This record gives sequence, structure tokens and C-alpha cells, in this order.
Amino acid sequence: KAQEKAELLEINKQAAQYFYYQLRTEKGQTGLDYLKNRGLSEETMRKFGLGYSDRAGGGLYRYLKAKGYPDDRLRESGLFNVDERHGMYDKFWNRVIFPIMDVNNRVIGFGGRVMGDAKPKYLNSPETKIFDKSRNLYGLNIARTTRKKYLILCEGYMDVISMHQAGFTNAVASLGTALTSGHASLLKRYTQEVLLLYDSDEAGIRAALRGIPILREAGVNSRVVSLKPYKDPDEFIRNMGPEAFEQRLEEARDSFLFRVEVAENEFSMNDPQGQNQFFERCAQMLLELKDELERNLYIDAVVKIYRGRYGISSEDLRKRVNTL
Ligand code: UTP
Ligand code: MN
Ligand code: MN
Ligand code: MN
Ligand code: MN
Repeated sequence: KAQEKAELLEINKQAAQYFYYQLRTEKGQTGLDYLKNRGLSEETMRKFGLGYSDRAGGGLYRYLKAKGYPDDRLRESGLFNVDERHGMYDKFWNRVIFPIMDVNNRVIGFGGRVMGDAKPKYLNSPETKIFDKSRNLYGLNIARTTRKKYLILCEGYMDVISMHQAGFTNAVASLGTALTSGHASLLKRYTQEVLLLYDSDEAGIRAALRGIPILREAGVNSRVVSLKPYKDPDEFIRNMGPEAFEQRLEEARDSFLFRVEVAENEFSMNDPQGQNQFFERCAQMLLELKDELERNLYIDAVVKIYRGRYGISSEDLRKRVNTL
């Protein structure tokens, strides 16, 4: 069993070296151009071990067969597809490759991106005996060594890489899956606080809303950063640069108040009925806060936002909470 895992790690390491080398060949030029076009420096590519799988396919299979690995083991690596007609063939094909490392810098899986608009945009290794997506975070092998008071949690490979290149080496991403309690306890080992930098779309907002209580349960505080009008951290940094990005991090929103503001959008705040329903929702959220001091602080914070517009007072809101 341990022998098997060691062999899978060895296969991944060999594969990472193969992809890395391919990026530097003549065929790999397309991949190199793609990554350069996205603003990545040679140093960044090296740091993240980025690679390339060429158009022909089959190269990795031949490479690993030549090293003597049996088909059974190669199949378990998740690096190959198998079907009756073609036998075993490379899963990653005509893509730039992002090796995924665990906190001990061992290659546990891969992501591969098409260089155009084809679908699926990213392919990822399936879960294997050495790759548990719900217990690993992309970039944590580097982020864990930075001494910042928080970690940044984002959606994608390119977001992590762009942030690291811009000096924000405390960024990590979950691997194309929703945040799990496994991720949260992993984060808890390295930090007390997480800044959520999910994409500025509906999916990103929903992901943040789902993530906040999971982090809270693990004892990790969270705040939410808005990247609008840009889509994600990578786009923000490319357009606005590191200083403006730093500014956004400093303006990170308290996660409770973020939830309140998202809720506000669900009601028609132009009429008393909508306003009433919204404050009812606020009261329900405030009721979740079991600590009285904490609850009172948030009552005041909510009132501070809405008093001007709706004439609500702390007493009004406190009374509403107490009637629930
Ligand atoms: P996004 O669709 O936001 O892509 O997916 P992105 O990271 O901004 O990609 P670029 O900038 O266009 O290159 C966020 C993350 O979700 C996973 C990947 O981990 C991706 O980084 N994902 C996305 C997949 O696994 N498969 C997909 O087809 C798309
Ligand atoms: Mn899992
Ligand atoms: Mn997205
Ligand atoms: Mn992106
Ligand atoms: Mn994105």
C-alpha cells in the first residue's frame, strides 16, 4: 500500500518533468507563447513547474512505459484514459499543464488548460490514492511559508499564479471544487483568517456565501474582497496592478456584513414590505450569533449602514431579533 503510493508519487514526478521539458521544446512554443501572453514570467513558470502536453498525445504514455511502469499502475495515476478501441492514451493533450503540489512539495495531480476557447477549459486529474481534492489547496506549499496574517483563497490556478507573481505569495485555491471542511481545517493549521477572493459573478458570490460558515466552523475568520468590475484576481492585477490590488485587500468586507449586503439584493427595497422582509432576514442572521457582545456589535454595524436610508435604530433591530 505504501509502496503503491510511493510509486504513484514517482509517476507524477516523472510526468511533471516530462511536461516541464515539453514546454521548452519546439512543439511547446505554443504553450510558452500562451503563458507569456497571459503575463507570466519565466521565473514564475519555473516556480510553479508549468508544462505542456503536445498535440500528438501518447508521448507521456511512451515515456513512462520506457521507464518500466506497468499499465495497472499507470492507470491508477489518473494520467491516462482507457478504452477498448484505443487502449491507454494520454489524458492531457494540447494543453498547458499546472502540476498540483501538496504541502510537502510532492506532485499529487495536474490541471491542464486549453490554449483557446475549447471546452472543457480545464481538465484535472481525478482523485487517486494520493490525490484528495477536498484536502489539498493549490499554492499552499508556497503560501504556508509566507508570514502574513491571513491567507487569500481564490478559485483558480491562474489567480494563484498571478497573485504570487505580483508579490501576494499567501494565495491558494481550491481545486475546481467547492470549499470543504477538509480545506477549512487545512487552512486553520496555517492561519486565523482567510480573505475570500472568488470571481465577481453569481457563482463566485454563492461560493463565498457557502464558504463563510464552513470556515467559521473550523475556527477561521473570513472577510470578502470585491474585485469589481474585474472578473477575478488575475484580471484585476493585470489591469490595475499590485498597489490597487493591495488596496482592495485592505478594504475587505466583514463576512457577516457581506452576507447582509447580498441579502439586501433579494428584496425590493423601494417599498416598506420589502424593507420589512429584509430586516426580518437580518434579524434571523443576527440570531445565529450566540455571543451577546458580538451580536450587539453587529446590530450596531448593520444599523450604521441602513439608518440613513430607512431610519432604523439599534433598538428597533434588537427588538426584532428578540421576538424571533
Ligand atoms: P474559471 O472558469 O473562473 O477559470 O474557473 P479561471 O481560473 O479564471 O481560468 P482562466 O483565467 O480563464 O484561465 C476557476 C477554476 O475552476 C476550475 C479550475 O481549477 C479553474 O482554475 N475549473 C474551471 C475546472 O476545473 N474546469 C473547468 O472547465 C473550468
Ligand atoms: Mn474527496
Ligand atoms: Mn469562476
Ligand atoms: Mn481567470
Ligand atoms: Mn476565474
